[in-house]
Amino acid sequence: MAEVLRARELALADRLEALARITVPPAFEFLNEPDRYLVAYGGRGSAKSWSICRRLLREALWRPIRVLCCREIQLSIEESVHHLIESQIRELGIEDYFDVLEKRITSKAGAEFVFAGLRSNVTKLLSMEGVDRVWIEEAAAISHNSWEKLIPTIRRPGSQILVSFNPDLEDDPTYKRFIKSPPPDAIVRKVSWRDNPFFPEELRREKDYLASVDADAYEHVWEGACRSHSDAQVFKGKFAIEAFEPEATWDGPYYGADFGFNDPTTLLRCWIAGRTLYVEHEAYAVSCDIDRTPALFDAVPEARRHTIRADSSRPETISYLQQHGYPELVGVEKWPNSVEEGVQYLRQYERIVIHPRCEHTAAEFRLYSYRVDRLSGDVLPELADKHNHCVDALRYALAPIIKGNNFAAWVDYTKGEAARERAEGEAPPVGQHLPHHRPRPAAGSVAILDPTGGLFEAYQKAFAEANGGIYLGETCSSCGDLIAPGTRYVKADRSFHEQCWQSFN
Ligand SMILES: Nc1ncnc2c1ncn2[C@@H]1O[C@H](COP(=O)(O)OP(=O)(O)OP(=O)(O)O)[C@@H](O)[C@H]1O
Ligand SMILES: [Mg+2]
Repeated sequence: MAEVLRARELALADRLEALARITVPPAFEFLNEPDRYLVAYGGRGSAKSWSICRRLLREALWRPIRVLCCREIQLSIEESVHHLIESQIRELGIEDYFDVLEKRITSKAGAEFVFAGLRSNVTKLLSMEGVDRVWIEEAAAISHNSWEKLIPTIRRPGSQILVSFNPDLEDDPTYKRFIKSPPPDAIVRKVSWRDNPFFPEELRREKDYLASVDADAYEHVWEGACRSHSDAQVFKGKFAIEAFEPEATWDGPYYGADFGFNDPTTLLRCWIAGRTLYVEHEAYAVSCDIDRTPALFDAVPEARRHTIRADSSRPETISYLQQHGYPELVGVEKWPNSVEEGVQYLRQYERIVIHPRCEHTAAEFRLYSYRVDRLSGDVLPELADKHNHCVDALRYALAPIIKGNNFAAWVDYTKGEAARERAEGEAPPVGQHLPHHRPRPAAGSVAILDPTGGLFEAYQKAFAEANGGIYLGETCSSCGDLIAPGTRYVKADRSFHEQCWQSFN
C-alpha cells in the first residue's frame, strides 16, 4: 500500500514539474481567465499560437477536457494545429502524458483534441455536444455563417472559445465581432512581437526589412493594423490560400529564385493544372549570405535536381550555387516589359492557389500593388516595386512559358470563309472537335486568333517562326479550352488576313 502511495506521489510530483515547464509570456496570462471568449489578435510572431497551445496542454494534463481545434477550411490534418500541438508536447518533454494519434491527440488525464474545418463540417459540428474548449486559429478568415453556426453549439457549462488571428480587413466578420463590438464576456488583447520575449532572430530581420520598405505594410503585418481595401492590389480576387497535393497530370514542377541581401532571397516551386497555378513550396530569408543560400534552398523539395530559373542580375550568386549543389540553376534574361508581361500572364490564370505553408508568398499576393498617386489617390498603371520577391521568383520559374514561344492558331469558325465551311458541312458544328484537331498546345502558347475565318497554315507557320515560336497546328473556337492557360492572343485583323493573301498570291 505504502508503495502504491509512494508511486502516486512521485507521479504527481512529475506532473507538477511538467506543469511548471509549460509557461507563456506575461501578455498571455489572461488565457487563464474563465471568460467565455479569450481573444489574442495582432501582428506576426507575437506568440499567439504557441501560447494558446500551451494553455490548452496545461489544462489537458490534468483534466479530461474536449478541445475542438478549427479553422474555416481544413481539407487535411496537415492544415490544422495538430502538428503544432505535437511539436509542443515534444518540446515541453511531456510525451508521457499524451498520445499523438493520426487525427486526434489524447491525454492520460482523459482529454481529447479534435480538428475540423468549420465550413464543411458545420452540420456535423451541430451534433457535437460536450466540447469544453474551442480554439479557432487564424480566425480572420472565419465567415459570419461559421460563427453563427458554431457559437450556439458550444453550450457546455464553463465552455470557452479561444481565438487567435492576424487582422486582415476591417469588415471581416471576426474583426467586427470581437474587436469592433466585442461580446460582454470576452477578454480581447492586442499583441505584437514586443509581447514575445522569444521573438526569433529571423523574424526580427523580416520585421526590420518590412519597416524599411513599406511603413503601411509593416503596420499591417507586424503591428496588427487592418489592411485598407485597395483597388491597387495586383492580384485582387485572383488567389486563394488552400492546401493541396500535386497530381500526376499537372505540368511541372517549375522552380524560380530571386536573390537579394537587403531584400529577401526566395525560391518557389509551382505547378500548372489547366487554368490554375499552384504555388507549393517556398524558401524565404532576408539578409541571407551567399554561403547560406544552398541550405536555404534545400527547404524546397528536390530543388537540387531540377532546373531553377533565377534572377540573372547576380552572376556571382548563380555561379556559387552552380558549384555548391545547384548545377541546374540558370539565369533568366529580362526583356523589355518582362515584369508587366509576367504579371499580366499570372493574372490570366483563373486561380492562383497558394499552399498555406508558403506564408510569404501569400503575404506578397495580398500586398503587391500598383502605384497610387499621392495627391489624387488614383491607381496608376505602374507596379510598385515592393512585395514582389516571391512574385518575381514565380515569374522566373515560368519565364519560358511567359515568353510564349509556342504558337497555336485558333480559327474562328463563326465568321468568314470558315463559317461558310461549317455551314456547308465541311467543318463540324460548335462543340465538336475538328478533324484537324492536334494535341493540346503547351501552356503559354500564343494563339493566332483569326476573326475573319481560316488562315493558311503555311502563313500561320511563318508567323509563328517570325515571332520566334514553333507552330503547333490549329486548335478551334469550338473547344477554345484546348488553348492552354496563359495563352497570349495575337489577333489577326483584316489587314493581317489580306497580307496573308498577298503573300501567297
Ligand atoms: N513560450 C515560448 N517559448 C519559447 N519560444 C516561444 C514561445 N512562444 C513563442 N515562441 C517563439 O516565437 C515564435 C512565434 O510564436 P507564434 O508562432 O506563437 O506567434 P504567432 O503570434 O502565432 O505568429 P503568427 O502571427 O505568425 O501566427 C515561435 O516560433 C517561437 O520561436
Ligand atoms: Mg500563429
